[in-house]
This record gives sequence, C-alpha cells and structure tokens, in this order.
Amino acid sequence: MDVRPPGTAHGVLLLSSNGMDVLYGGSYVTYKVIGGVLDFYFFAGPSPLAVVDQYTQLVGRPAPMPYWSFGFHQCRYGYVNVSDLKGVVAGYAMAKIPLEVMWTDIDYMDKYQDFTLNPVNFSFAELRPFVDRLHQNGQKYVVIIDPGISTDPTYGTFIRGMQQDIFLKRNGTNYVGNVWPGDVYFPDFLNPRAAEFWSDEISRFRRAIPVDGIWIDMNELSNFLSPEPLNSLDDPPYRINNSGVHRPINNKTTPASALHYGGVTEYDAHNLFGLLESRATNRALLRDTGRRPYVLSRSTFVGSGRYTAHWTGDNDATWEDLRYSINTMLSFGLFGVPMVGADICGFRKNTTEELCGRWIQLGAFYPFARDHSTIGTIRRELFLWPSVAASARKSLGLRYRLLPYIYTRMYEAHTTGAPIARPLFFSYPEDVTAYGVDTQFLLGRGVLVSPVLEQGATTVDAYFPAGRWFSIYDHSLAIDTRSGKRVTLPALPDAPYVHVAGGSILPLQQSAMTTARARRTPFHLLVALAEDGTAAGELFLDDGESPEMGATKSEFSLVKFSCATRSDGMIRLRSQVVHNSYAPSRKLVISKVVLMGLQSPEPPKKLTVFVNGAKVETNSAVSTGYKSRRVLGAAHVSGLSLVVGDEFELKVDMSN
Ligand code: GLC
Repeated sequence: MDVRPPGTAHGVLLLSSNGMDVLYGGSYVTYKVIGGVLDFYFFAGPSPLAVVDQYTQLVGRPAPMPYWSFGFHQCRYGYVNVSDLKGVVAGYAMAKIPLEVMWTDIDYMDKYQDFTLNPVNFSFAELRPFVDRLHQNGQKYVVIIDPGISTDPTYGTFIRGMQQDIFLKRNGTNYVGNVWPGDVYFPDFLNPRAAEFWSDEISRFRRAIPVDGIWIDMNELSNFLSPEPLNSLDDPPYRINNSGVHRPINNKTTPASALHYGGVTEYDAHNLFGLLESRATNRALLRDTGRRPYVLSRSTFVGSGRYTAHWTGDNDATWEDLRYSINTMLSFGLFGVPMVGADICGFRKNTTEELCGRWIQLGAFYPFARDHSTIGTIRRELFLWPSVAASARKSLGLRYRLLPYIYTRMYEAHTTGAPIARPLFFSYPEDVTAYGVDTQFLLGRGVLVSPVLEQGATTVDAYFPAGRWFSIYDHSLAIDTRSGKRVTLPALPDAPYVHVAGGSILPLQQSAMTTARARRTPFHLLVALAEDGTAAGELFLDDGESPEMGATKSEFSLVKFSCATRSDGMIRLRSQVVHNSYAPSRKLVISKVVLMGLQSPEPPKKLTVFVNGAKVETNSAVSTGYKSRRVLGAAHVSGLSLVVGDEFELKVDMSN
C-alpha cells in the first residue's frame, strides 16, 4: 500500500506463491520472482480503508471470529499435566483476572502424535472432566496440532492417511520429513482427499475432547531436516534471500522437488501450505460443530484471513520484541488477517516482572490476546507477580468493557476488510506525521492506544492527530489539537494510555471473568463529542457463534447512534435500528450514557433528561474537568433503561 500526501492511497498485489525477493527503495518496488505467472492487481483506493476493502473483496473477507475468542487466552509449551492446567485456571480465578481460553501445546500428545493423548499426563480420564468443567464455567479449550503425521506403523491416523494416499510425494514415494514426533509424512492439502482425511481425524478427536478451536503450527512447512537437492528445483540458479541470509530454498522445509496432487511442484506451491491447511481446518470444525470455527495459524498467505486468526510466531521476551509486535500486528490488519496478536510476555527467554506487566498492558489491546511461552523458561501467567496481576486486571478489565466495540469492529472487518487494529494513518491519511507512528495504534477509528514500550520508562511519548482526545479512564478532555501534537505523558503503572477520539460513540459493557458473563451486563454508551458537538457510532450484536456474521438470513442486530448539540446546549442522542433480528428476544438495555466534551459557560447544576419526548428521572451527574477557559466536562446519565433494539431519542438539557 502506498500512502502519500494529501492522503491518497493505492495498493499493488503480485499474486504469486513462488519464492521471491521484494525490494523496496523508497520510490520503487522490485519483485524478483523465481517462477509462476505474473498476476498483478492494482487497487485504486483512494483511501487506506478503500484499498483494504478492494483487496479483501478480491482475496476474501476476514472470517468472523467467535465472540469468546476476543477474551483472554493462556498457553504454554511445557505444561506438565492436567493438574498443572487446573492450577493455572485456578490461579486466574483467585487473582480475579479474566481467563476465557485455556490452551495446551504439544505436551498433551502421546509421542507428539496428532489426535492422541498422553496416557500418563493428559489421560482422557483426567482431561475430559477438566474440559467439561471449563465449559460449565463458560470457558474454552484449544489445542495445537502439527501437519507432520508420524510414520509409526501402529498409529491410527497414519494408517488411515496411508489408506487414503494423501501424503506429499518425492520421487514417487511419500516424502519423509522430521518434526516433533520424529519421522513424518505431510498431508498434501492440494489433494481434496487430504481435507476429508483431516476433517475425519478432527471429528474423531473432538468426540473424545470437544475442543473449541484448533491451533495449527509448523505449517510453513517446517522440517527439522534440510533435504539434499535432487534437481534444479531444489537449487535454482537465483538464490532468493531466504531467512535474510540467502539460505538454500530447501532449508528446514519440504524439498522444492516434492510433488503435490495433480503434479504441482512444491517449488510452486510451497507458500500455500498454511492457507490450505487453514481452509481444511476451518471447514472441518464447521462441519463437526456447526458453529463459527476458531483456527489459529502460524503460516499465512494472501487470503488466509478468510479462514484463520494468526499469531506472530516465536518472539523473544525482550523490549525490542514488545515494541516490534505493534507493527507486525498492524501489517496483518492490512493483509486482511485482522485477528492477530503476539505472544504476550514473550515466548523465548526469561521474561521479567516489568516486561510482562508492560506486555499485558499492550497485549490486552491486541485483537487476539494470548499469553504464551516456551519450555525451560520461567512461567509468565499473569497472576504470578502482584504488579503484573494489577496490570492485567486493569487492562483486561478495560478490554472486556470494550468488547461490544471490538466485536463491532470484527463485523466491520468481515464486511469491509477494515482492520480491527489500525495504524494512525488509516484514519488520518492527510497527516504525514501519522505515517511513521508505529508505537501507538487505533482500534477502529475511535480508540487510540499508547503503551509503554521501554524498560524503566516514566513517561510515554504519544502523537495525537488533529481533533479532541478524551481519557477513557476519567473522561476528561486530554488533548485538543488543530493539526496534530506530540505529547509526553507520565507513564501509568498498570495500563496503557487509551484515548477516545472526539466524534465517536463507543458501546461498552461491564467487565467480567468471562465474555459470556460480560455479555449479560447492561450496556453503556460513551459519547465523545467533537468540536462541533457531534458524534456517531454503532453496535453489532449476534450470538457470537453462528457461522455467518451479519448475513441477511442470520440473526443479528445493528444499531447506529448519532449525537448532535443544539446552539442552546441541548444535546440530542438518537439510535437508528438498521437490523434487528437478534436483540428482541434478549433483554438488552443501555443503562448509562456518558457525554464527554460538553461546552457550557458554567457547570450546569442539573440535567434534565427526556427519552422519546418524556422527561425521565435519572441519577445524572456532571463530573470532571470544567476548566476555566475551555469549559469542557463530562455528564453521566445513569439509571436509564433504553432497550437496545428500540429506536430512542435521548435529550439532555443542561440549562440551569
Ligand atoms: C513452535 C510454535 C510455538 C510452540 C512450539 C511447540 O515453536 O511457534 O508456539 O509452542 O512450536 O509446539
């Protein structure tokens, strides 16, 4: 994507799965491709949002993600047994930190073989009741699977795979790679029978352990061997800059000379493996559960967002990787894979209390928020240090309150391609200073997150594009700038800065230990008035697990909110119900409206509130921040009972 003054954007896609070097030289891009067809696409823009809209129309809109997947996830490579898992779940509950999803890495498997259980440490007799209890508590369970199928001749999955003849071949026989379980064959997902095989294996496994989602790893394909070259495909005359150091293309992967179904070479199809496995896994889950699939994949390709979420792979517990997680996440939003996050607290190396605390402060606002770490390093569950637990409660507490807003962004991503987490230039493409900002990001267009990214930092340098910015914590007007402003703020101990852009209306709910419980709490509307006294926003609601999201035949509600201020100071907030097949059967109410950025010469002594023309009794109060010069404050109108699916007009009269 190219963005340049005065704020115009366009996109270019070379749709090729062959090895390539892409050289960017500031004013030019050079593609050096070692095969394939030159399929070039140009996206006219003219805005960054229009480019991703056009791009995802072509490659596929991002898959709707289940509501629960926006909760907090805990994982580790190295959980030793079911008691260990139980201890972690209990640790979160004791510390009153929300835990939505418990994960298990390859440790649960027998000899690292997919679709098996370790008979000693993760036996069916222990694991199944554990998973059932999670479910009873509204929590979820996700496990990893890897593509390599062990060639152990007694292993059922292997036997069935052989019967169906679905493995990748080289020189006329199945290619033998080496991954966690030792010698493996790789399913060839270009073969339609491989997807059938995969789906059948997943269903068989789910009958034993009803996992809620599947994590697919090592799918680049990763191989512990580097196959010897057999022909020129394995060692082409032009060496692409593999791994950044011109490694041979067979380095730690399947050989380029391997053959897929239909005679397609691995040389041509290598980069499609993760995409095809994501598609097969997504369809398998859909077929088995009838519900919205949740798949997390390490490897992605053009169009992967249609099937999977993504984590950014094995990072280090370093300040550098904390910082780097932001631009990685933002890139995947542009690629049409908006459900993305990095391993919170860092995967490799020993994290520290300070780093882990800062990481959950940031990670609480990744679209996909999962704490994960590797074997042999110190544990980093969020309840282990009091200060990290405090950060988790505050930051995740805010995330859970924002869930209706974040989930509405998922709907927006699914229908328009707009990323959930966005770079500043997405909303401010005319602001050249915003182009280079990679230490902050927006959720949608209304929420700006400015985390601490440096060790020992006592301040945060943040950039605010033109407009009004309100503190989400105390509702005060924090920044008001006509052309953008850099500000140094004192670092908060337990949370990032989160500001709401003037002009937005955010639907919020209350925090809870699970998303299911949060969904039963009353809604609040947080209205951030722009300079001209207006604001707008929307709320999308559905059951969070039906396969379709917002399709005409599915059940959903979509409500638009708009707010305007009359010259005499009367504020009018209206809702417009665009679609309403979900809300009516549920008792969903808005119990409170907070209006930020009121202007009045004097703090009003009282508010008079009308709902649909009739005066109502509320517990209204005017709070914070009437400053002598700019006189901007917030009004809290509580005690309301506005039905989400009914159109309403709320008038707030502030005259004394
Ligand atoms: C890979 C994955 C990592 C996982 C490990 C063990 O390194 O990227 O997330 O923990 O394999 O399965």
